[in-house]
Amino acid sequence: MLVTGKDILVPARAGKYAVGAFNTNNMEITQAIIHTAEKLRSPVIVQMSEGAIKYGGQDLANIVIDLATRATVPVALHLDHGSSYESALNAIKMGFTSVMIDASHHPFEENVHETKRVVEAAHAMGISVEAELGRLGGIEEHVVVDEKDAFLTDPDEAVKFVEETGTDYLAIAIGTSHGAYKGKGRPFIDQARIKKIGELLSIPLVAHGSSGVPAEIVQRLRAAGGEIGDAAGIADEDLTEAAQYGIAKVNVDTDLRLASTVGIREVLKATPKEFDPRKIFGPARDVMSQIVEHKMGVLGSVGKA
Ligand code: G3H
Ligand code: 13P
Ligand code: ZN
Repeated sequence: MLVTGKDILVPARAGKYAVGAFNTNNMEITQAIIHTAEKLRSPVIVQMSEGAIKYGGQDLANIVIDLATRATVPVALHLDHGSSYESALNAIKMGFTSVMIDASHHPFEENVHETKRVVEAAHAMGISVEAELGRLGGIEEHVVVDEKDAFLTDPDEAVKFVEETGTDYLAIAIGTSHGAYKGKGRPFIDQARIKKIGELLSIPLVAHGSSGVPAEIVQRLRAAGGEIGDAAGIADEDLTEAAQYGIAKVNVDTDLRLASTVGIREVLKATPKEFDPRKIFGPARDVMSQIVEHKMGVLGSVGKA
């Protein structure tokens, strides 16, 4: 069933598990996400970025909405990194049940102002809202220890932000970053900070940049002819721990991008004569389903629907 983000995330926060929020860009990705959620009896969030809306538009949103409506588990359709009030409103008009307003690059007061506008409009239509406070980015990029605090979410500021905006869930900067290169070795995730914010705030917290970039997938990508550098992601156990402290929504895009490319490359490499799209995209869908299944296990959402 198609539900709001709040319907999924409030029970997750209370139950100390997290729900995967997977980015989609086409039918196969959407099927991998929603069919795996049904198989595992897990709630799930499917998200589309503004780039995904530009690429797939209402056609893609309708695929998600149709699969979600027919699903026997709760599914929300969420706008990822909405950049303006207009963008959030447009997504709601398209049928999204959850929107993110990402004004985190603005000064605090402006972030509050932009977020509040979206919250008021979205709530009037029964849609839930995610906002962001703090700056994402690898800690590696900001090696001076004192500086890192300037980028990560300040717990007291987070309380003030939620009080002033009324956002339903909050994305916090805890050391993760977007993409396949999250730093060398084991990328940093500030558990103490999550714990502190989780003690001060009872709303669900959101972790962006949470792909695991599994070594096995990276290896397969290389073996199939793909070129990828020193890739690294967030360790499984770090996400499991973060869910105990209040992280209830975990954003994953990169892992599905890697998985689909692995699936496609492996077929094309092994069978150069193949040109039936079903034989090419089908295996990619299977590799993505395995990633979704693994992540749901790590986050503890299996059997919660
Ligand atoms: O956080 C960003 C997501 O990975 C979406 O990326 O804007 O290229 O669709 P995109
Ligand atoms: P990854 O790049 O780690 O998959 O993060 C995706 C994300 O945060 C989407 O909002
Ligand atoms: Zn993100």
